[in-house]
Amino acid sequence: MMTMMMRLNLLLSFLLTFTILSSHVLSDLILTKVDRRIDLSSQIVRTTTTLKVENAGSDIVSEILLTFPDNHVKHLAYLSATLNEGKGKAKSFSGVGLPYEVVRPKDIPSSLATYSVTLPKGLGKAESLTMDILTVFTHILQPFPEKITQADIQLLLFQESAQYLSPYPVKVQSLNVKLPEARIESYTKLENTKLQGSELKYGPYENLPPFSYLPIVIHFENNQPFAVAKELVREIEISHWGNVQITEHYNLVHGGAQSKGEFSRLDYQARPYVRGASAFRRLTAKLPPRAHSVYYRDEIGNISTSSLWGDSKKTELEIEPRYPLFGGWKTAFTIGYGLPLQDFLFGVDGKRFLNISFGSPINELVIDTLVVKVVLPEGSKDISPSVPFPVKERHETKFSHLDIAGRPVVVLEKNNAVPEHNEHFQVYYKFNRLSMLREPLMLISGFFFLFLASIVYMHADLSISKTSASYLAKIQWEEVQATIHQVHSIVSRCLTTHDKLEASLRDLSRTGDIQGCKATRKSVDSSLKELTKELKSPVTFLQSSPQAAQILPKVEEVIAKERDLQEKLMAKHSTVVDCYEKKLGGREIENRIASHQQKITALKQEIDDLMDLIDEI
Ligand SMILES: *[C@@H]1O[C@H](CO)[C@@H](O)[C@H](O)[C@H]1NC(C)=O
Ligand SMILES: *[C@@H]1O[C@H](CO)[C@@H](O)[C@H](O)[C@H]1NC(C)=O
Repeated sequence: MMTMMMRLNLLLSFLLTFTILSSHVLSDLILTKVDRRIDLSSQIVRTTTTLKVENAGSDIVSEILLTFPDNHVKHLAYLSATLNEGKGKAKSFSGVGLPYEVVRPKDIPSSLATYSVTLPKGLGKAESLTMDILTVFTHILQPFPEKITQADIQLLLFQESAQYLSPYPVKVQSLNVKLPEARIESYTKLENTKLQGSELKYGPYENLPPFSYLPIVIHFENNQPFAVAKELVREIEISHWGNVQITEHYNLVHGGAQSKGEFSRLDYQARPYVRGASAFRRLTAKLPPRAHSVYYRDEIGNISTSSLWGDSKKTELEIEPRYPLFGGWKTAFTIGYGLPLQDFLFGVDGKRFLNISFGSPINELVIDTLVVKVVLPEGSKDISPSVPFPVKERHETKFSHLDIAGRPVVVLEKNNAVPEHNEHFQVYYKFNRLSMLREPLMLISGFFFLFLASIVYMHADLSISKTSASYLAKIQWEEVQATIHQVHSIVSRCLTTHDKLEASLRDLSRTGDIQGCKATRKSVDSSLKELTKELKSPVTFLQSSPQAAQILPKVEEVIAKERDLQEKLMAKHSTVVDCYEKKLGGREIENRIASHQQKITALKQEIDDLMDLIDEI
C-alpha cells in the first residue's frame, strides 16, 4: 500500500503545473458558466462541457479557443463543438458541428494544444452564447497496477484538472465525474469535493483566472471489456446485382491491465466472475437491419457458438471468441454479412452513391487503425468519397474471377477511431448504364463475331475462329454468372423473410399477441410463395445452360435446403402458436420444438456455407 501511495505521489508531481502565465489577454471573452461531465464507465472517456461565453470587450469575436494539456490531446479521438440554441436542456450533439482547427497562438504555452472553433457569426459587445463540446479520449485510463493476476480486479488511474483549463477567466464552474458502479480506491479530495454513490463532484469554483489548473487523480475499479482493435480492415463490396457485401477483419487485443501468472481454465470455468473479472468473454455487434448470410470465423474455422438476433430495426450478432480474453491477450477473427443494395445505394444527378456507416458495428470498441475499403463495380468512374472527418485516401484495384479491368477500390484510413466515428459517409461514382448492358451487348457482338469468324473460317484462317469461340464461351459464362447472382439474391431474400418469422415468435413470447403472430405468418407465407415463383425462370435458364453444369447441383442443393428449412420453420411456428393457444408453459414449448430447432440450426449453417460458395462464382 505504501509503495502505491508513493507512486501516486510521484505521478502527481509529474502532472503539468501551470504557474502564472503572461497576463496578456487573448480576447475579452469570459466564461460565465462552465459545466463539465466526465464519463469513466467504459474504456472510452467522454467529456461533455457546456460553456456560457460572454463578450466583455467591444471588438467582435469570431472564434473561441479550447486548450488541452499535451499529454491529454495525444489521446483525443474525437472533438465536436455545437451551439446550444435550445432554451431548455437540449443536450444533443446531433446539431451540425462547428468547424475547428489546431492553432498555435503565441500567448499560449507550447505545452498546451489549442483548437480554435469558428463561430457561425461574430459575437458582439455584451452578447453571449452557449456551446456544447464533446471530447472523446482513448488509451487515457492507465491500469494501475499495470500487471494483475487472473484473480485480481482491474484498477485504473485517471488524471484531470478539477478546474477547467481555459485561456479565458471563468466565473463559476463545476465538474461531475461518473464512475462505474464498483470500488473506488482513492480520489483527490479538495475543497468542495463530494462523492455520491458513483458520482464524484468537484466545485462549484468561482472567479478563476485564465489557465487555472488543479490536478486530481482518481483510482477506481473498471472491469468493462477493454476491446481494442489494433487494426480493423472493413471491406464494402458493391454488386449491382443487389448486394452489398461487408467483410471485417479484426486484430483484437485486451487493452487493459496486463495479465501475469498462470492462467487456470479450471478456476475460470468454476467461478468466471471471481477468477476472471477483468477478462471479456463476448462482444456485441449491431448490424444493420436486413443483414443476411452472417458469419464469424477465425484461423481455425467457423465459430458457431455466436448467436444472431434480429428485428426490423437491427440485427445483433454476439461474438464469442474461443477463449476469454485477459489483459494483453490477442485474437484475430473475421465477420461477414450481406446487405440489400437498395438500402445503401442511391442516385443523384446522374451519379450513384453509397451511403453507409464508417466504423465498426461492435459496441464501445477502440480502433487504433481503421481501414475502410469500398470496392466498386468494374467500370465505375469519377469516384469521390465524402467523409465527415479527415481520413487518408488512396486508390487500388481488385481483381476477382473474370474481371477484365479490375474493380476500382477506394481505401480510407483513420487512426484512433471510436463509436462517434460511426457516422454515415458517401462514395459517389459514375457508372454507365451501358456497362450494365455490357453482358447482353457482348453476347450480341459475340454472335456477330461468330458469324464473321465462320465466314473467315470458310475462307482461310483457323485461329480466328478459335478465339471467337472462346470469346463466346466467356460471354455465355458471364450470363450464367449473372443468373447465379440472381438466384443468390432471391435465396437471400427468402432467408431474410425467415428471420421475420423467427422475430414474430420472439414478439409472441414478449407480448402474447397470437393474432399478430398469425398475421405475420400469413404475410411471410405469401412472400415466400412469390419468391419461389421468381426462382423459376433463372433456374430453368441454368438447367438449359451447359456452362452451368458444374455449379447447378450446388444451386439446386441450396434451393432444396432452403425449402426444407422453410418447412421446418413453419412447423416450429405452428407448434409454438399452438402451445400458446393451449397456454402451455415455456419448458413444454422448448421440449416440443427441440427437434425442429436442431435441424433448423444445422440447415441454416449448411445454407450459409452453400451461399458463400455460390457467391464466389
Ligand atoms: C445517409 O444515410 C443517413 C442515415 O440513413 C441519412 O441521415 C443521411 O441523410 C444520408 N446521406 C445522404 C447524403 O443521403
Ligand atoms: C466456414 O464458413 C464458410 C462460409 O460460410 C465456408 O465457406 C467454409 O467452408 C466453412 N468452413 C468450415 C470448416 O465449416
